[in-house]
Amino acid sequence: MVPSKAMNGVTSKFDTAKLFAASVGFDGQSVAVLQDVVNTALVELAPREARLASELAEAIRYSLLAPGKRARALVVLLSAADMGVSVPSVIQPACAVELLHTASLVMDDLPCMDNAHVRRGLTSAHVRFGEDTAILAAITMLSDAYGLVARCATLDAHCKTDIIGQLSAAIGLDGLAAGQHLDLKTADEREMASRVEQIYRLKTGALFAAAWLGGRAATQEGVVLATLHEFGMKVGIAFQAYDDLADRLGSMETAGKDVRADVLKTTLVALEGANSAQARADETFEDALCDLARIGQDKGRLAHFVVELRDKLRSRMVSDAPA
Ligand code: IPE
Ligand code: IPE
Ligand code: MG
Ligand code: MG
Ligand code: MG
Repeated sequence: MVPSKAMNGVTSKFDTAKLFAASVGFDGQSVAVLQDVVNTALVELAPREARLASELAEAIRYSLLAPGKRARALVVLLSAADMGVSVPSVIQPACAVELLHTASLVMDDLPCMDNAHVRRGLTSAHVRFGEDTAILAAITMLSDAYGLVARCATLDAHCKTDIIGQLSAAIGLDGLAAGQHLDLKTADEREMASRVEQIYRLKTGALFAAAWLGGRAATQEGVVLATLHEFGMKVGIAFQAYDDLADRLGSMETAGKDVRADVLKTTLVALEGANSAQARADETFEDALCDLARIGQDKGRLAHFVVELRDKLRSRMVSDAPA
């Protein structure tokens, strides 16, 4: 057990032994096993009882442990695994990425943003707990993500500093927050056409580029890390395009969230139609796999996962429905 100092936030306790045990079954192919490892870790680090704000703790637990795909954490773990770094060594940064991602979802659903009522198959956090608690839960998760990496006992100080810097950049003015702002504030159709790729890069690509984190645990080699970063960016762009396709063509049951929510937003589907959006998403997934080939990782577990992810995303939309 990693010693639990008196921590205030999400990360009060972390049972590394349990994670080692859970990851023993990971054969490099079975993503479901690895997803369970992430879920086990998130259960461990989610707040159980809080000394002060118990409803805030409950809102964090509710949002974080709701059934997400954990795709970003898996990218971190698999990129590390392909470079010889064990899953337990990078589980904390992987969970930090999920904390940041969950915070972004809670905020994305707020009435002043997308005004969504269902998330991960459950009532959205602000509907269940109120906007005030939801906003504070998101802020707490953002803050705890950095603390989780800072306290990680399996990585050296230099590596942790790099990872925290990378995560901070992925969220801020050159990342997710800027992308979300552009997403909300772009209304003119010509502006939409020129900004769509930038919006995808910022709001979704930046956090997927966290593939870099798994690689950083293994190497400091600039070319490898830059290529992993670009790979993650492309996966994020393609992922967002498929998400927009699911919003347009899928159902609330399969998506686990509101659909037809982004019809007025800047999306490839709105701009080019569903067929073109899907073709572009598929091309972008292929380009991402080419990036992995450039660093000799196109036969690895990460490449395998990306193909599987693309196929799952395809099945979430009904491709022959009218665009
Ligand atoms: C939803 O992300 C938000 C987007 C960037 C499209 P996910 O589809 O990964 O959401 P969860 O984590 O599985 O709920
Ligand atoms: C939001 O994109 C991406 C984030 C950074 C949260 P969407 O607004 O399409 O995400 P969903 O569909 O609500 O999950
Ligand atoms: Mg949105
Ligand atoms: Mg949304
Ligand atoms: Mg969406």
